[in-house]
Amino acid sequence: MNRKELIKAYLDFFKSKGHAVIKSASLIPENDPTVLFNTAGMQPIVPYLLGQKHSMGNRLTDVQKCVRTNDIEDVGDQRHLTFFEMLGNWSLGDYFKKESISYSYEFLTKILKIDFKKIHVTVFEGEVGIPRDEESAQIWNNLGISKTNIHYLPREDNWWGPAGESGPCGPDTEIFIDTGIISCGPKCCPGCKCKKYLEIWNNVFMEYNKTKEGKYEKLKQKNVDTGMGVERALTILNGKDNVYETSLFLPVIKIVEEITGKKYDAYEKSFRIIMDHIRAATLILGEKIAPSNKDQGYILRRLIRRSVRHARLLGYKKELLNNLANYYIAEFGSDYSEIYTNKEFIIDELKKEEEKFLATIEKGMLEFNKISTKDISAKDAFLLFQSFGFPIEITQELAEEKKIKVDIKGFNEEYLKHQILSKQGAEQKFKGGLADNSETTTKLHTATHMLNAALTKVLGKETHQKGSNITPERLRFDFTFERKLTDDELKRTEELVNAKINESLPVIMQELSIAEAKAKGAKGEFENKYGEKVKVYFIGDFSKEMCGGPHVKNTKELGHFKIIKEEAVSAGVRRIKAVLE
Ligand code: ALA
Repeated sequence: MNRKELIKAYLDFFKSKGHAVIKSASLIPENDPTVLFNTAGMQPIVPYLLGQKHSMGNRLTDVQKCVRTNDIEDVGDQRHLTFFEMLGNWSLGDYFKKESISYSYEFLTKILKIDFKKIHVTVFEGEVGIPRDEESAQIWNNLGISKTNIHYLPREDNWWGPAGESGPCGPDTEIFIDTGIISCGPKCCPGCKCKKYLEIWNNVFMEYNKTKEGKYEKLKQKNVDTGMGVERALTILNGKDNVYETSLFLPVIKIVEEITGKKYDAYEKSFRIIMDHIRAATLILGEKIAPSNKDQGYILRRLIRRSVRHARLLGYKKELLNNLANYYIAEFGSDYSEIYTNKEFIIDELKKEEEKFLATIEKGMLEFNKISTKDISAKDAFLLFQSFGFPIEITQELAEEKKIKVDIKGFNEEYLKHQILSKQGAEQKFKGGLADNSETTTKLHTATHMLNAALTKVLGKETHQKGSNITPERLRFDFTFERKLTDDELKRTEELVNAKINESLPVIMQELSIAEAKAKGAKGEFENKYGEKVKVYFIGDFSKEMCGGPHVKNTKELGHFKIIKEEAVSAGVRRIKAVLE
């Protein structure tokens, strides 16, 4: 079975059980600014696990793009991957343990044709306040899983979530396949490091919400969240113990061998790093994220630069990374259309970043060789980073090869100091959530004020701004409101903004004291951002808002306003994305 067959089999199966197939969300979380990437299929589903209604119903299934960055350094061994896909099915307050476990059992034994005797499961052993999960154990046993294959384990093994600091979570039952290798001893059981048992699926019974204060409270509804890693499942189905030797990567190994003339067997680590990192980089670039020194862009930079270093170890060939990216574009583009749409961006940015690093890596290596006669200090690691563009993992990896140490802690402190300084610089430049001060961004900024005013008119005074982010392509506006907006509300909001644009209202700025601004009824959620006097922008008498600008002079410059999306951000917060045409 290959990747596409597995995904299709899974989605078809859950469709036959009444689940709506939903589209994978972006790799970049929309609901949680505390994490850089979606790391599990459930992350985009959080608002619905918390009780919001999903327009596709209360049984959902999908394949979700995920990136985990915790163990990038470990990529190169047999199983770690940066990018992976997670198959999932959800019950949003609909079915619970019995159906969930029965569906999993049926899919594994009937569709994937796994021998039921090889299936081992774990269930939550319980703790103060949260009962032992006898119910799940009984369901498994009724289906035919013998008691010896059912293992009770504590919270460290059998509790999942929340994905970020707070949110839905609960006890789970994890499903493992016995590989048949001899156990490492009498205590061996699923979860053991000897890898006799490989986890294929995780079914989480999400009844709890962990609050920011660390308390567990019962959710409004009982949910099921499951996750099956496509790569892990294929490793098992292909009868391997190494993900890089499955149907996923065999064609990629061939490409690398053909281009470099080197053999996988002799250069396993470099092959794996390049194959994994360019796969993840292609998918991240597919979200229109470019390499940079912060957030997702910096992860991307690290992935590309580490690939360049390993490509050099294989005897650098110019077309290698480019050809791999093209392979992945073809493989994933048919499942995630943005990969095709952004094909040129992916290839261009990859090439630019590769060339940028090639320009400094040679000199950086000379510098490294000079300073690596002893352990690398924080200062030197930072010099390699700042002057030669060496991400810390590269320095670390080079140091390991020379059997010397790097002061990582010191480096992180230097890095943080540097980041704070550049962030302060950036804040000076880009006030108020604007990506830049271009003409299109400025227009969208004025449109954001008009949207804010229109929402107050249509939805009532209680709704207020929670956040705003504007790029040259679109505006994004978050605001408090309890439920999904109706089509009629969206239509009226859009029409009101357009009507006001067509009135050619002047946009006028006045500098006022906070008291004066308030007396004039100006909106201003961000008062503490401003000093003694504040700037208030008036758009006719339609909108009054404290703001640092910039804005257009007259609304007639804006063109036609169009809402392209309305969605949930978290409980009680909605988001609108809109454009000017
Ligand atoms: N959210 C669960 C996981 O990632 C299913 O394992």
